Amino acid sequence: MSISQLAREVKESPTLRLNEEAARLRDKGEPVIHLGSGEPKSKVPLDAILACSAKLKTADIRYTPTEGIPALTKAIIKYTEEAYGKAVAPENVCAHAGAKQAVYNILMTILNPQDEVIIPAPYWVSYPEIIKMLYGVPVVVQPEDGRFQPRAQDIKEVVGSYTKAIILNSPNNPSGEVYTAEFIQEMVEFCEQKQIYLIMDDIYQKLIFDGRRPVSCYDYVKDDSDNSRLIVLNGVSKMYAMTGFRIGWSIANTKVTKTLINVAAQNTSCPSVVLQAAATGALEGIQTGVESLRLTLENNRNVMMKELGAFTGVRCVNPGGTFYCLPDFRAYSKNSIELCRFLLEKALVVTVPGVEFGMEGHLRLSYCGTIKEITEGIRRIKWALDPESPNEIYIGDRKMRRDWK
Ligand SMILES: Cc1ncc(COP(=O)(O)O)c(C=O)c1O
Repeated sequence: MSISQLAREVKESPTLRLNEEAARLRDKGEPVIHLGSGEPKSKVPLDAILACSAKLKTADIRYTPTEGIPALTKAIIKYTEEAYGKAVAPENVCAHAGAKQAVYNILMTILNPQDEVIIPAPYWVSYPEIIKMLYGVPVVVQPEDGRFQPRAQDIKEVVGSYTKAIILNSPNNPSGEVYTAEFIQEMVEFCEQKQIYLIMDDIYQKLIFDGRRPVSCYDYVKDDSDNSRLIVLNGVSKMYAMTGFRIGWSIANTKVTKTLINVAAQNTSCPSVVLQAAATGALEGIQTGVESLRLTLENNRNVMMKELGAFTGVRCVNPGGTFYCLPDFRAYSKNSIELCRFLLEKALVVTVPGVEFGMEGHLRLSYCGTIKEITEGIRRIKWALDPESPNEIYIGDRKMRRDWK
């Protein structure tokens, strides 16, 4: 069968694959613990449900403008004002079917074949794949060993005549690292000076811990004209636990946004109007759910760090946001794919291999589940890996014995 070379090279999404594997095992009655998940478990805000139910009840469900319904655009503008202190116009805003599609549409709008996009590791799995799907070249910049904070100098050193954009994601998936204000400032100023697009993927912006406040990249912009190459992406998936609603958005200068709308019009026409109504409802509605999710995740993070802290050989940088951490398991295995398979087979715990995020020897562990899932998951991983942990363990009602070294 003839399949395009480009499509053949696109990697399977590891998280979606692991979800399927976990579901298959659960269907067989296996007591699987899922520490691989990429979505909060809280309920969707009531305002979102009411808004999309009301829209559905009209039985008038049609195409919308590609960039989104005016009510959603208005809500995004208000969000941007409150979260960033930045006034943007409707001509700067475009809604997409998720922040993932926003990344795709934006890159399709700005990249020529062979253009390079710089992504600091650890990075979100989809960036390199999307870049490659658009005939671009991902350029990965590794951090210092044992740290997840990128160094501006390392990024500057790889910028060349083919560099079209830098993507920053803070708080970061998969490490939970929150980039410093100094770093963001340096990147904003550098990209402005070099005329490079700076794409800020701020999808975890509200899920930040320890009393820190998210940094607004706009604070450091010197050229506030319509030539600014700063692009901000966000969406409802994480802060409102609305992953299934598939609504994200981009904020960019009017020229980029105008072209972007043509691109989006030819691939999806528009995001579903029902889901746009839901996203508008969430953005315009009561916001207490976001804070309570943030508090729950901060508490879960503390439990996860405590459990990992008692794990000899495992080192973990304290995540300042998101619901992920990226502990270093190199003391147990240098091959994270093998380690993941081993933990699923022996301990029935789902983790995500760090190599998928450009960080071999690490595992991404999510703490968006319950405290019981976190403690039980780490207890099992410890049992499977640490020879000093008790030799026998109960997994569900089965007594398991460690008979490997
Ligand atoms: C860093 C990052 N950006 C974007 C997305 C995509 O979010 P959405 O569900 O809005 O497509 C994710 C989802 O996991 C993510 O982790």
